[in-house]
Order: sequence, then structure tokens, then C-alpha cells
Amino acid sequence: MKVGTLYYSLSLWNQGAITAADFVVATSLSLLIISEARNLSRRFLEIFEHIGNIANGVLTIIQPHELIDQDEAIAHSITQGKIEFRLVNFSYLEGKQVFQNLSVTIQSGQRVGLVGFSGSGKSTFVNLILRVFDPQSGQIIIDGVDIRDMTQEALHAQISLIPQDPSLFHRTLMENIRYGRLDATDEEVIKAARKAHAHDFIAQIKEGYHSLVGERGVKLSGGQRQRIAIARVILKDAPILILDEATSSLDSITEKAIQDTLDLVMNEKTVIVVAHRLSTIAHLDRILVFDQGRVIEDGTHSQLLASGGAYYKLWKMQAGGFLPVKANNQNVSELPTR
Ligand SMILES: Nc1ncnc2c1ncn2[C@@H]1O[C@H](COP(=O)(O)OP(=O)(O)OP(=O)(O)O)[C@@H](O)[C@H]1O
Ligand SMILES: [Mg+2]
Repeated sequence: MKVGTLYYSLSLWNQGAITAADFVVATSLSLLIISEARNLSRRFLEIFEHIGNIANGVLTIIQPHELIDQDEAIAHSITQGKIEFRLVNFSYLEGKQVFQNLSVTIQSGQRVGLVGFSGSGKSTFVNLILRVFDPQSGQIIIDGVDIRDMTQEALHAQISLIPQDPSLFHRTLMENIRYGRLDATDEEVIKAARKAHAHDFIAQIKEGYHSLVGERGVKLSGGQRQRIAIARVILKDAPILILDEATSSLDSITEKAIQDTLDLVMNEKTVIVVAHRLSTIAHLDRILVFDQGRVIEDGTHSQLLASGGAYYKLWKMQAGGFLPVKANNQNVSELPTR
């Protein structure tokens, strides 16, 4: 177009058909049109790029939840805290069964310890109670109500969990602890932090309760994150309490101190404690020994020791209170730290 306009208007001017002014107007106008047309096509490219980005984003956001509340789900309140597994079958992947017809009843107010080798299904047991997954068949019943008939919001509001690896939000420590109970005052948060033995290390950080913890809490050590999670649970005060190796990242002195607090917190609640260190669960009301998704032993510490079975062997093997890690299941995080 540039060359054509130039050539054509030059020849017209040559013939005297147009003046010099016409020539200038024609060529500069055509140059302008060309550059605007180029701009326009660039903008179109950008627009389609943005449309693509937005479509991707929307698709990610509107992804339906795999587990949704049933229409008739009710926000049942848990008063007793009795947990029943009835013939539960569960597998993460088809063909690799974790639980087969598992039936367990945990009475209201009972404090139960779960032990077993790595991969025996302890965390899965806990996840099923929290309805992170639905079993393929069978029922999980809390206080006589199938948890699928309960709204997930109500279920999660009434169960406290200290997970194996607690992660925090990239907010201040104050907000992270308050996540346990959103309407708690600053004083209540600090009181809970004191009970969880978190106050001292928080006070040592420059901005105290107002310091940010980094994505997922990376600026804190594992044990510090656990203490924040424990403070949350103290604040939440739910009728069912689940601890998945809640004190595994703590040194023995802090652990002993927190154990005393936890014993107070556990008062009058149904408690499930997953532990590799048998000493942390030996004093509980009941101990379930898991092996490959089955409960192979069930009883109190002294009963299980007297029966001389798997628990007895584990107890004998524990030098400093740790479970030996199976050779084919090496997991560094579970090796004794010393
Ligand atoms: N999200 C998952 N997807 C597929 N398989 C899984 C998943 N989580 C766990 N498993 C498998 O289910 C089995 C039970 O795992 P689970 O996490 O319940 O063990 P665990 O007893 O808690 O072990 P640990 O003591 O190491 O925490 C294991 O064989 C594991 O490989
Ligand atoms: Mg686990």
C-alpha cells in the first residue's frame, strides 16, 4: 500500500493532475491508516490472549467440588462425640484397597491412640472422619448420624484437627491462631498461644503477633507451626479432637510441656491421637494397632502389653519411644532425630 500510494500519487503529480499539497496529504494519510491498521490487529491479538486467560481462570474457579453436601444435609450438632465405622471399604486407587470392611466404634469421651507402621492407614482413618474422602461403601456415623447427612461446614466446625504437617496462611500470627475461632478477641488468642507454649517464641520475633509467616508458614520451624496449630485447636474447643502426630516435630522438653496442656484440652472430648512414639499414647483409654488397613489389636496399654502381640513387640523395640521404620518403607522424616 505504501509503495503503491507513493508511486500512484507521484505519477499523478508528474502529470500535473494533483498539486504538491494533495500529494503530501494523500501519502501521509495512507501512512497513518497503515500504522493504525497494524495497531488494531495487534490489539485483536491481545484481546484474544486475554479472553483465553480469563476462560482458563474461570474454568479453574468453577471446578465443581468432588464432595458436595446432600440436598437434605443438616447442620447436626455433635454433643456426644461417638464415632462409628460400619463396614467401611475405602481405596484411593482402584485395586489398592486401604480399608476392607473396617468396623470400629469409638465411644463418646474416649481417648484413643492409633499406632501402626507408616502407610498402615492411620491418616486415612482420620481423613475419612473429616470426610476429606467418601468411602466406597459402608458408613461413618457420628452421634448416630451418617456424616454424609451432615453439612460439611457443621462437621468441620465440630472437629479439631492438628495435621501431620500443619500449614499456615500468609497472614499475621494473630490471624493464623484466630482461624480456630474467628470471633476470638486478641486476649483470647494470646491466652491460647500461652497454653500452646507458642507465646514465648512469638514474643521473640520482631513484630510479635503481627509478623507475617510466609507462604504456608515457611518462616517458622515445623515445631513452631505445630504449636500454632495447637493454639488454634485450644481456641476452637470442639467436641472431637484429632491429633495426627501433633507433637512429632517438638523437642522432648517442649513436647512434655505441651502434652500436659493437651491432656487438659482432651478433657471430656473424644480424642484420636495418631503417634509413632508410643510413649505419647500409652496413657490413653484405648489403643488401636493398625496393620495394612486392619485393626489387629484393640485394648488399653496394659492389656496389649499383657497379650504379648504386635503392640508388645513394638513397645519392646522402641529404644527412645520411636517406632522402627520398615526397611522397605524408608521415610526420613520418621527416623529418630538423634
Ligand atoms: N492421596 C493418596 N492417594 C493415593 N494413595 C494414598 C493417598 N494417601 C495415602 N495413600 C496410600 O494409602 C495408604 C495409607 O496411607 P496413610 O497416609 O493413611 O498411612 P499412615 O498410617 O498415616 O502413615 P504415616 O505413619 O506415614 O503417616 C498408603 O499405602 C498410602 O500409600
Ligand atoms: Mg499419616
